[in-house]
Amino acid sequence: MTIKGARLVILGRQGSGKGTQCVRLSQHYVVPHISTGDMLRAAVREKSELGRQAKTVMDGGGLVGDEVMVGLVQARIDQDDARSRGYILDGFPRTVVQAVELDRITQDRGLDVVIDLVVPREIVLTRITARRVCRDCGTNYTVGSVDRRPWLCDNCGGDVVQRDDDTPEAINRRLDLYESQTAPLIEFYGRTSRLVEVNGVGTPDQVFQRLTTTIDARL
Ligand code: AP5
Ligand code: MG
Repeated sequence: MTIKGARLVILGRQGSGKGTQCVRLSQHYVVPHISTGDMLRAAVREKSELGRQAKTVMDGGGLVGDEVMVGLVQARIDQDDARSRGYILDGFPRTVVQAVELDRITQDRGLDVVIDLVVPREIVLTRITARRVCRDCGTNYTVGSVDRRPWLCDNCGGDVVQRDDDTPEAINRRLDLYESQTAPLIEFYGRTSRLVEVNGVGTPDQVFQRLTTTIDARL
């Protein structure tokens, strides 16, 4: 059976499970998972000029400039895999300016669907506080009752640590910025009937099932 590609945007509050679900969706639809947060964290690890500038902004819970982000995403979706199969965008667009630019750069191959993964603020706060990530491959974990120290990644053996921007101050700043900068995207995409809400509360398997049902209905 041929698996159809897809061009998807996943919106949702910090900690709503975008990263967790996009990894699975990327395998399911065989399309690249393009996470702007992961791209910026890779630049920080490489100590590039972009990484140096982005680190200060990210650690404070702010947003990196629109022009830089649009340039990064445009270069990535112009690569062969995304041109031929599509893409899943996680963490982009994050402002209305980025959404307008995304429409411009994808004119010839527009979005199939934009998903708003809905999880209340109280629940995302608990999830983010318990999140740990692999420093090398980015795999997500949740702190359980057992304290694992040192904690090595099951996937690649890298160190599992807390993200530098998962401090209480940065989390609150990011969530406030979500309300002011990113929530207006819901209205932006709603106007063109590209938006579908999906409930992000439940087990990761339940949420994945809801997502694929919703996406399949639109492809
Ligand atoms: P980014 O990396 O995108 O971070 P974020 O927006 O803060 O989102 P998160 O990664 O925190 O949330 P998520 O929805 O992916 O949740 P996850 O799956 O991990 O961006 C980081 C920074 O980069 C930004 O603050 C900004 O500075 C900059 N940046 C990035 N893109 C930008 C852009 N376009 N413009 C400007 N600046 C940009 O899940 C969270 C936790 O919950 C995990 O521990 C997971 O295991 C757990 N979990 C997941 N699903 C479930 C479930 N169903 N039940 C229980 N637990 C669950
Ligand atoms: Mg993420």
